[in-house]
Amino acid sequence: MTSFKSTTPISEYKGYHGLPPLAGLHTMEGAIDCGLTVEEAVSRLKYTHWALRRLHAIFIARLAAMPIYELKMTFSLHGHYCIEHVDGIFARVREMRHPPFGMDVAPHEALDFFFDEIQNAGDTEALVLGLYEKAIPQLVAAVRDQLEVTNRLYEHPTYRKLRHLLVELEDVEAYGQQAIACLVDDTARAKHAGWLNLLDQSVANFGSFTGTEAKAEHALAAQFSATPYVYDGKPQRDERFRDSYNMGVNPEAFIFRDDMPVRPKTLMMSFKRLREIDVPEMMSSIITETEGKPLGYYVDMTRQLWDEARHAMMGEIGFVVNGIDWTQIPVNFTWSLELNTGLKPEERHAILFSIEQGLMAKETGKEKEWELAVASTDRVSELIQDYDWADEILHAKIGRDWFVKGFGTQAEAVARGQECVYRGFLQLASGYKEAGLTEHRNWWPDLYTAACEHWGVEPDAHVLAYDEFYDTSAPDLPTAKV
Ligand SMILES: [Fe+2]
Ligand SMILES: [Fe+2]
Ligand SMILES: [Fe+2]
Repeated sequence: MTSFKSTTPISEYKGYHGLPPLAGLHTMEGAIDCGLTVEEAVSRLKYTHWALRRLHAIFIARLAAMPIYELKMTFSLHGHYCIEHVDGIFARVREMRHPPFGMDVAPHEALDFFFDEIQNAGDTEALVLGLYEKAIPQLVAAVRDQLEVTNRLYEHPTYRKLRHLLVELEDVEAYGQQAIACLVDDTARAKHAGWLNLLDQSVANFGSFTGTEAKAEHALAAQFSATPYVYDGKPQRDERFRDSYNMGVNPEAFIFRDDMPVRPKTLMMSFKRLREIDVPEMMSSIITETEGKPLGYYVDMTRQLWDEARHAMMGEIGFVVNGIDWTQIPVNFTWSLELNTGLKPEERHAILFSIEQGLMAKETGKEKEWELAVASTDRVSELIQDYDWADEILHAKIGRDWFVKGFGTQAEAVARGQECVYRGFLQLASGYKEAGLTEHRNWWPDLYTAACEHWGVEPDAHVLAYDEFYDTSAPDLPTAKV
């Protein structure tokens, strides 16, 4: 009689011809040894979900008034990562016999206390320490911990999502460590020592980012969050930026003029890209001040915000490769300033939508910019414009998906945008000059001369003489922006 009894020890269990069993996810021993119940896994995921949701909101809300350009760009990326994973984890929880009820509140009130404090952090050093020394490393540790105890077979969909999350969170953590090293000195650290301790106490109260540790009961006295958070949409730039109200050069008019040669046009396109710093600044206000939309709205809008930040950095590359010190160029913030401080979120979105649709025009839009870049034979410019165009097509779709819905038809939505543009910008440029904020100096000759020097060519007198200003009635028209 054959025996059904296995003679192979579990530790030596293998598949056919020695193939790894269980699709290579675990050894048999490993699979037997680990696993969380659905209940345990969901409980942990709710902590991670909420932490990512709060982090997204902080990164996005704080980037407009964050003066440091590199942090402004990085917050755009880190906010994008966070909301993408919020979406993934939210969906995963629903797959585990859990309706989404209760996922719009914190799983523990001390978790909100912790993030309220960071959201309200009183200076850049505190914000950087709160985000990158406290929140992110502890979230990374919690995700690693859950990955270790997750059964990769039983719970493969969770395992997969958390692995992807960990890859990106580790990048965030690594950048954060560099940000701390560059921006936080001993004096700042000493100044915030008590506050950092308060954050630690709140973490102890919610039982770590896994929510599984014993929960302490420290009495928490709010410091930065003693007064409720107020969104600050007024854009700030660091001290490398100059003459931020200067609207003295109209790059669109130059780019689309037939009498101008193509190579200098790549400089104007780099300027247009770098100037896109103002789009994340402006979208920060729309996303932060628009409540109650489906999660997909925040995912898509944040993706767009990050794309716009990428375009700004593409402009930075365009200048650096041509030997230009871009900090000498006035990169005006007038668009984000006026929209964030003068218009309602829905009006800002109307303008954004209207601009994005305008960029699809064949002769004056993104395709044309790409054609000019190709004609210039400058490979960097070609790549920049190629992806700028691709991204802007996606943005036009995001606009149709989320903005047009509220208006019924595309034409009505565009008309609304036009109306807001004219309301928002009348007399803007002349007003800045009268207020003594800028002389609208024409910086083009200096930029062009420096580039010619780098290229080893003599400046063309006709190009050098370009002097076209944004007139008072038509700055940032839908067809002439972004
Ligand atoms: Fe762009
Ligand atoms: Fe865009
Ligand atoms: Fe853009």
